[in-house]
Amino acid sequence: MGFDKWKRLGETFLAVALVFFGKQLWALPETSIFAPVSTPANAISRLAVFVLSIAAGIFITLSCLTLYIVVRYRARESDKNLEPPQVFGSTEIELAWTIIPVLIIVVLFLTTAGVLFGLQHKPRPASALNLVVVGHQFWWEFRYPELHITSANELHIPVSANQDSRPTYMKLTSADVDHSFWVPRLAGKVDLIPNRVNGLWVDPHTPGVYLGQCTQLCGVQHAKMLLRVYVDTPEQFAAWVKQQQLPAAQQESVGRQAFETQACINCHNVEGTPATGRFGPDLTHLMSRSTIGSGIVENTPENLRKWVADPATFKPGCLMPSMHLSDQQINDITNYLVSLK
Ligand code: CUA
Repeated sequence: MGFDKWKRLGETFLAVALVFFGKQLWALPETSIFAPVSTPANAISRLAVFVLSIAAGIFITLSCLTLYIVVRYRARESDKNLEPPQVFGSTEIELAWTIIPVLIIVVLFLTTAGVLFGLQHKPRPASALNLVVVGHQFWWEFRYPELHITSANELHIPVSANQDSRPTYMKLTSADVDHSFWVPRLAGKVDLIPNRVNGLWVDPHTPGVYLGQCTQLCGVQHAKMLLRVYVDTPEQFAAWVKQQQLPAAQQESVGRQAFETQACINCHNVEGTPATGRFGPDLTHLMSRSTIGSGIVENTPENLRKWVADPATFKPGCLMPSMHLSDQQINDITNYLVSLK
């Protein structure tokens, strides 16, 4: 291959790489740490850019020096059988390449520690909303102790604007194994560990839906433990709270009887009914959620029906078994679930 061909190949490669990585960086997908909307995520994003800039600086400096040396001291025709001058040891150079990296590491360590401690020891303002997050195999439980609301998988929190600061302070723990709560645009990762309570706070400035996911391997369905965080305007949040505090739809239907005479009620809670199970998600206002199975499929009657018939259709290995119900029972239970608005 001639020089021109190599040059063209190199240019094509560079163009493809630029398009690919450029797209990754600037498309800013819904889970990018470079599109923060909350103070902790902002601090982490800034720190990441700072660390990456230092790393890029080192990379560029070393690449340029290497290129310079390769070209400047390349083997020449006139060098045949000649040995270059041999140099043994240089205190100045050795000191330089020891002290400079140590200084860089000290700077990186101090800035990282500063961000970590700054975020962790931020005092909790009186206006904060308290939230308890419990990780389960393979779903999320959300409790609002002061509001007397229990929900699952889809989190609603208020926006926290500067003039109307209302951050959310979470206490995170686990009912079984280790999980990890990560919504990259809101905050860093925090592990949920059995018999331990960890803390996390967020103060999202922009209403919207922010996605996240469990980031600690917790079993077969770890990858399908998705998080949806709805950051509501104050009015939206008030309306949501009001709706969630209502008792469950109390219809005396065939469906309700089917639900309450099957194993469903051992694991699921429907407020104000004999269903008081705590092992699975609270279903009191099931239909107010847009997805089921911790975000794996849309919450539609067809999907609910498939889920009730056999949860393994969507989530093989999930802890809710197929109850081997008759078609009639499945229809009745689905109808009841659909009524839980
Ligand atoms: Cu829960 Cu991974």
